[in-house]
Amino acid sequence: MPTDTVDTEYAFDNAAEEAVPQLRALEAFLDPITMRRLAPPVLAPSATCWEIGAGGGSVARGMAWAVGPDGRVLATDIDTSRLVPAANLGVRQHDVRTAPPGESFDVVHARLVLLHLPERRRVLRTLVDALAPGGWLVVEEFDCTAPLRVLTAPNDDAAKLFGQVTDAMLGILQGHGADLGWAQDVHAEMRDAGLTDVDTVTHSESWTGGSGGASLYATNSRQLQPELIEAGFTAGQLDAFRNLLRDPEFAVMSYHFVSTRGRRPDARPV
Ligand SMILES: C[S@@+](CC[C@H](N)C(=O)[O-])C[C@H]1O[C@@H](n2cnc3c(N)ncnc32)[C@H](O)[C@@H]1O
Repeated sequence: MPTDTVDTEYAFDNAAEEAVPQLRALEAFLDPITMRRLAPPVLAPSATCWEIGAGGGSVARGMAWAVGPDGRVLATDIDTSRLVPAANLGVRQHDVRTAPPGESFDVVHARLVLLHLPERRRVLRTLVDALAPGGWLVVEEFDCTAPLRVLTAPNDDAAKLFGQVTDAMLGILQGHGADLGWAQDVHAEMRDAGLTDVDTVTHSESWTGGSGGASLYATNSRQLQPELIEAGFTAGQLDAFRNLLRDPEFAVMSYHFVSTRGRRPDARPV
């Protein structure tokens, strides 16, 4: 991927057919971790919440359930095609790089969004400013800097192909402005922005061929197929890559999922 041509548009398309299995696989892997991180004292009944880059909407729905009828969740995304409003769940098309919604929130959550945005550091400050006193910011990202460790593969060529295609996909995301190591910077950014009680947890697990997790690499490769072909892969190589991800002889460690949260002090220091 040439680095002199940076197209900072988000690399995936929520409206594409492939987005449904992609978002479902992400949710199945990540929602249990995210909902643990959002559990009390973060989410409380009657809280107001902002879910950014809500994607398929599962976290927004989980938050809406947790805050109950007296609480409210605003789910925003540049592409709201997969989001469905409900009684205490509003949906709004919104680019998080622009002015925030103009209200304050008890909980602000963004998962796998800021890493894609070149303006991520400025955006994080706007999210901090959108917190009510005592409110929580939860930012969750993949750390894509660690090499993807193949645990088992039917043969060496298969393991090599996996590495080549996944490296190329990360290069494409970088070409769209993603910072693959941003996940490890969020903790310090939150501290620098004045948040307290900042903590970080990291999760990684093995994904065997045929699992929902392994399918993420396949759905990503379908969404990025034109750019992978442009990068020199053949359709046959990409088919072999996807077949490998269905092969129970194959297993790989997932990306490291890094969840960081911090709390705005009750009163701003003077
Ligand atoms: C990888 S998906 C993650 C979806 C969801 N947060 C999840 O973890 O299941 C990234 C989401 O961020 C949205 N997004 C990308 N750029 C955005 C922006 N500038 N403002 C708001 N949402 C954005 C995309 O449309 C997509 O829904």
